[in-house]
Amino acid sequence: MSYENIVTEISDRIQTVTINRPEKLNALNLATLSELRRAFTEAAASADVDVVVLTGAGEKAFVAGADISELARLDVLGGRQYALDGQAVLDAIEKCPKPVIAAVNGYALGGGCEIALACHIRIASENAVFGQPEVKLGLIPGFGGTQRLARLVGKGRAAEMIFTGANVKADEAFRIGLVNKVCPAGESVSEALAMAKTIAAQGQVAVRYAVEAVNAVHETSLEQGLVIEASYFGLCCGSEDFKEGTSAFLEKRKPNFTGK
Ligand code: COA
Repeated sequence: MSYENIVTEISDRIQTVTINRPEKLNALNLATLSELRRAFTEAAASADVDVVVLTGAGEKAFVAGADISELARLDVLGGRQYALDGQAVLDAIEKCPKPVIAAVNGYALGGGCEIALACHIRIASENAVFGQPEVKLGLIPGFGGTQRLARLVGKGRAAEMIFTGANVKADEAFRIGLVNKVCPAGESVSEALAMAKTIAAQGQVAVRYAVEAVNAVHETSLEQGLVIEASYFGLCCGSEDFKEGTSAFLEKRKPNFTGK
């Protein structure tokens, strides 16, 4: 499938999706959002993909936000629909049945921070900058930022970022739990690929159920979440990967997982 605003590549069962508008700091225009949705729908369905890495082209930005030239034209109903449509794209990322790792290689502002939040794991280069600067435009975050940021870093820290519009540098983002790891500038993609490789080497039936179980954490009570966990645990026990993984351990050899 061909794209104009993103580049996708599959290697070693890892799909890299690169948002490719570096001259606009990878700002998310409608065409890019639509291509992202397509790319994640395809990654979810592809038998050749176990893990997805999402990044931005160039040295400066992951994504510098929703495209402000498009935002500027919105009215009340259009704005609501725009936010709902953007949220649906980010939902497709979060609900991708395969782990999605954001390699944040620079500015992750507004929709860029939100898209990183929709990924399951975030790896930031030391020059990464996170922020929800929408109030500076007379807006609030509309692609899930008020909800996912608060769930990740807590209501107080999210409130501060969203109410002030102030940016958070990579080291601070790590300290508050916004990112999993910080690496030297220029290495976020290679770090993300290394983590993706580790994930791709595991039993993929288990990884897929783990994605669903972890995703359920904000949707359910603890009691319901534990029921979901037990059900997926049981389903794993019916997989060939489970038989292989446990046999390999007991036979003191490396497992040869088939993803079945
Ligand atoms: N939407 C549309 N265009 C954007 C953009 C966005 N969110 N962010 C950057 N761009 C464009 C700029 O307009 C500029 O285009 P031009 O060369 O045609 O004028 C190009 O990307 C480079 O950005 P520029 O502002 O010149 O780079 P900078 O290094 O001076 O500043 C930022 C970088 C990220 C601080 C600055 O671009 C910025 O504040 N962007 C908007 C961030 C934002 O508010 N995001 C939330 C939107 S809801």
